[in-house]
Amino acid sequence: MESLEEYLQTRAGGAILDIACGGGAFARRLVDGLASYASVTGLDIADKRDEFLANVDGHDVTFVASAIADYLRGDHGFDTISVSNALHHLEGVGDILRDLRAIANADAVVIIHEMYADGLTPPQQTQRDLHALIARLHLGMGEYHREAYTRGDIHGFIEGAGLEVAHAFDAPHDDAPVEKGPDGFAGRAGSVIADAYPDGAPADVSTEYERLKARAVEIGVARPPQMTLVCAYE
Ligand SMILES: C[S@@+](CC[C@H](N)C(=O)[O-])C[C@H]1O[C@@H](n2cnc3c(N)ncnc32)[C@H](O)[C@@H]1O
Repeated sequence: MESLEEYLQTRAGGAILDIACGGGAFARRLVDGLASYASVTGLDIADKRDEFLANVDGHDVTFVASAIADYLRGDHGFDTISVSNALHHLEGVGDILRDLRAIANADAVVIIHEMYADGLTPPQQTQRDLHALIARLHLGMGEYHREAYTRGDIHGFIEGAGLEVAHAFDAPHDDAPVEKGPDGFAGRAGSVIADAYPDGAPADVSTEYERLKARAVEIGVARPPQMTLVCAYE
């Protein structure tokens, strides 16, 4: 199978849980791609209810505002569980992937969709480093956010959780358009610095930001590679 969409066409999705759903971009992809589904629950620690419900306009759609670790203590059952671009936002991600088993129905799949941090082109390396700076600033502001994981890290979490990969799709994005200049993603890092340090950033942060801005101008910034793994518990 060549793509996630090709896989989704073959699957009756049943009850879907999209963890750390944000505004619902990935849940929307599932709803549009699956052969069928019964219900969709989007869960996020932030209140993204309005955005999620506006984007995922299928049938039987619910939004739950909760940290995933708390939700796992409840009595729930899902057939398709997804985590998109959020492994690096989840504290204790290995434990969470292991404990999801408690809310996974028999024959459930866990779909992991995550950018990765190895085998990068130079513009992707700029993106990785800017993202790492943003993640470090968020951590300092009390929000759990890590730099991107490598493919080895991600496979390590999966194996440690007792999951087996049934289908893997890789999007290296090595021909992605390159954005050159100090705005765009580099500008976003600048905004996060301004939020984190309204009275001026410490020297190490400013130095790193200046390095990355110069890199964004000279080498550019490009979309990171992404892996999608369809997994099931052993
Ligand atoms: C980069 S966004 C990904 C959004 C969406 N899944 C997507 O692919 O577009 C990461 C999301 O993780 C959420 N998040 C962070 N920690 C969480 C937690 N412990 N439980 C649930 N959601 C969490 C954030 O609020 C944020 O919406």
